[in-house]
Amino acid sequence: MTTTEHQRAVKAAADELIDVSFTVNGTPVTIRVPARMHLADALRQHLGLTGTHLGCEHGVCGMCTVLVDGDAARACLVFAVQAEGTDVVTVEGLGTQDDQHPLQQAFSHHHALQCGFCTPGFLMSSYDLLTHEPGVDDERLPEELSGVICRCTGYRGILAAVADVAEAHPEGVPAPRNCAPRTLVGRGGAATAAAPEAAPVGDAEEAVPTDITRPTGTPTITVEVTRLLTSPLDDIWAVMTDVHRLARCLPGAEMTEDLGDDRYRGRATVALGPVRLAFRGLARITERDESLHRLALLAQGADTGGNRTAADIGLRATATPDGGTELRADAAVFLSGRIAQFGRALAGDVSQRMFEQFAHALDETARTGQPPDVGAGPGALSIGVAAVRDAVRRRLAAVRTTLQERRARRRGC
Ligand code: FES
Ligand code: FES
Repeated sequence: MTTTEHQRAVKAAADELIDVSFTVNGTPVTIRVPARMHLADALRQHLGLTGTHLGCEHGVCGMCTVLVDGDAARACLVFAVQAEGTDVVTVEGLGTQDDQHPLQQAFSHHHALQCGFCTPGFLMSSYDLLTHEPGVDDERLPEELSGVICRCTGYRGILAAVADVAEAHPEGVPAPRNCAPRTLVGRGGAATAAAPEAAPVGDAEEAVPTDITRPTGTPTITVEVTRLLTSPLDDIWAVMTDVHRLARCLPGAEMTEDLGDDRYRGRATVALGPVRLAFRGLARITERDESLHRLALLAQGADTGGNRTAADIGLRATATPDGGTELRADAAVFLSGRIAQFGRALAGDVSQRMFEQFAHALDETARTGQPPDVGAGPGALSIGVAAVRDAVRRRLAAVRTTLQERRARRRGC
């Protein structure tokens, strides 16, 4: 990457944290990163854009290819601080599951991937090639794409896919389809993971919607959970109707702005094992029934990786004979993007665990009058790890049962 007018001279110690502002997939972001962190790590760790893969981290394999100001760049060879003021496009910006870029469609059509590890690198490299050399001759493709290594496919499907797109778009490959503030809501992981005190992000902030519509269609998962709390109903209801304290009870969540009319802006971090997702979004209270002690709300969020989630949630508290409270929650959860690929069982487990932690925090808040210390409580990461561990255990148990049944059948039992 060449030096641009955006870059400023900064003298920093190797481990010093530096604020870097740039645009990624159409959304202005500000992250605080160590001076020596490369762009690929910054994209993956601070912005949740894990579509940018890392292979060699020496500029050899091409897995980490992204576009910086319209040109392909090895994200493992660019320091994140060098991205200051630039316009970065990652594979997540190319298209979405529902609206794939022609290159993604062609890769799918030609079975141009097996494990898929090299695919983001090939997609971004091909995009760069077809942008700079529209209608490039088929015979030159092997050499032009030799900067990315694939260990699985033998390259034939990849070359056929790129050749198809080159032929279909001789005037130049269509622009990325997922690059706009409306599709990348705010700073996502940047603000949550690295720089919660960073400045607002200008246009992107304005682009965040200020109202929510009830999701339609079939939810990805539905959750129904009941928990017994020790605090009396009145104390629980007092917390449920105090939105600020209620938000503090949600694991990994933080309310950032009261928009009025029972609408709130906030952010939340959810992790499934090693996959960490940071959402920004909105919540709106749709029902607050004092007599039934029922609260209903809609929530929606998106991260910078194109993941979206929406939930229609109902909470109802009833007094128990022993002076405690029964808290019942039902939620219809809608997921799209990469997170929708997690199994329903796993997503359901995570939702249940989050509710368990929420119920525990609600009880503690009602009992002590103070919201729990978010930093000291079980983090979102531990929710994910526990859920993944349990899901794996259940899966192993199911496999074990199946094997035992097969053995029994073979023995004629
Ligand atoms: S990880 Fe960047 S080129 Fe290999
Ligand atoms: S599809 Fe596996 S490395 Fe290319």
